[in-house]
Parts: sequence; C-alpha cells; structure tokens
Amino acid sequence: MTTPHKKLVLGTAFLASVVLVAGLTGCNKPAAPVAAPPPAGFTPKQMADGLFAVMSSDRAVYTKNVVARLQNDEKVIKASEHWKDEKALPLPAQMFRMGAEAVAEKNPGFTYGLLSLWPINKQNTPKTDAEKTGLKFVSDSGGKTNYYAEETLGGKKYFTAVYADVAVSKACVSCHNGHKDSPRTDFKLEDVMGGVVIRLPL
Ligand code: HEC
Repeated sequence: MTTPHKKLVLGTAFLASVVLVAGLTGCNKPAAPVAAPPPAGFTPKQMADGLFAVMSSDRAVYTKNVVARLQNDEKVIKASEHWKDEKALPLPAQMFRMGAEAVAEKNPGFTYGLLSLWPINKQNTPKTDAEKTGLKFVSDSGGKTNYYAEETLGGKKYFTAVYADVAVSKACVSCHNGHKDSPRTDFKLEDVMGGVVIRLPL
C-alpha cells in the first residue's frame, strides 16, 4: 500500500504529453531531449522523512547525552517514569510525547506520535486503520521498511508515514517486559516495539 510519489506521477504525465505532442506534429528532426521540470518544494514523503530525521535525532541525542550520561556514566541523576515525584529525568519516550503534545497545541497542521500495538501508555494506542496497518507492516518487515499511505479522516486527506522503533538496547526490552502496564512481556533485542507515526494534510 505504498503511495506513489505524487510529483513523480505528475512529472511522468508531463513528459508523456510532451512526447505525444512531438509525435503528433510529425516532426522528422531528431527530438531535442526533453527533461521533466524538477519538482518544486518538498513532496509529502520528503517532508515526513525530514521531520522524522529531526525527531529521531533529538531523541537519540537526549538518550545518549542526557539520560545515559547522567544516569549510567556519571550517576548524577536517574531517569524515571515518575520523574516529577522522584525529581528525576523524564524517559525518552515521555520527552517525545510531551514534545508531540506541545507541537499539537501550536496546531501546525501536522501531528505525530510514538505509538505501539503493545503500548505501556494506552494514549499511545494506534487508532486509525493506517496506523494499525503501518505498525504491523514495519514490525513484520523487522524495521527495514517504512510505511507510507494516504488516508481520509473526517473528510480530509492525509499522508501518513510510519517508522519502526526498534529495541536497540537491553534497557528497552527489560523495562517494557517488566512494566506492570505492558501488554507484552516477550520483547527481544532488535524487535520492533512500536513506531513513529507522522500525519501531514494533503
Ligand atoms: C525505564 C523504562 C523504559 C525504558 C528503558 C524504555 N522505555 Fe519505552 N516506554 C516506557 C514508558 C513508561 C512508556 C510510556 C511513555 C508515555 O507515557 O507515553 C514508554 C513508551 C514507549 C513507546 C510508545 C508505546 C508505549 O509503550 O506506550 C515505545 C514504542 C517505546 N517506549 C519504545 C522503547 C524503546 C525502543 C526503548 C529503548 C531505546 C525504550 N522504549 C526504553 C518505559 C521505558
């Protein structure tokens, strides 16, 4: 169900019409090479991929240079789900959700979230068909392939992208498997545990 590249389709249609017109005019001279005009601006896929690059980099930087450094290396402060009560650092997934909520308040037209078919926080449950299909798709592909689809919600069309979230360290696996609210307890290293869903209006 991957979505064809819209601009590519338009570009191809343009090229085809140029070739058609050249053919109809019966011109015998060798046709000058006709190049499709370069697409202007970002395609929805490029935009979603770019947003994902920013989000995933920020999360990786926070995990490595704040949480892992201060908790594991320097042993200054720990990260905890109950960060407010325990005066601790928020978990990377909590930072990510708080960022997504702050973005949603600004109403920039697009939304994103870190969801899972096995969520600890039920707020992170997939709701739309594209979210459910996309999370299953990236999980079945072992995190190797992203998922892109168009979906219509409330009469509006959206481009929805899903990127796998993989258990890159043992900490992911042990915390989720042992968490009282986790519906799944058999995660292994390298398993897809969920995915980032980005939804752009078309
Ligand atoms: C110390 C425990 C802990 C660790 C370590 C941890 N998580 Fe989580 N994770 C949580 C909690 C708690 C939530 C719910 C956060 C919220 O409130 O949205 C969560 C949320 C998630 C979600 C969203 C779905 C859900 O379960 O609510 C994904 C996906 C996820 N984590 C993947 C990972 C990955 C991948 C790693 C390792 C890179 C990781 N987690 C490390 C505790 C942890």
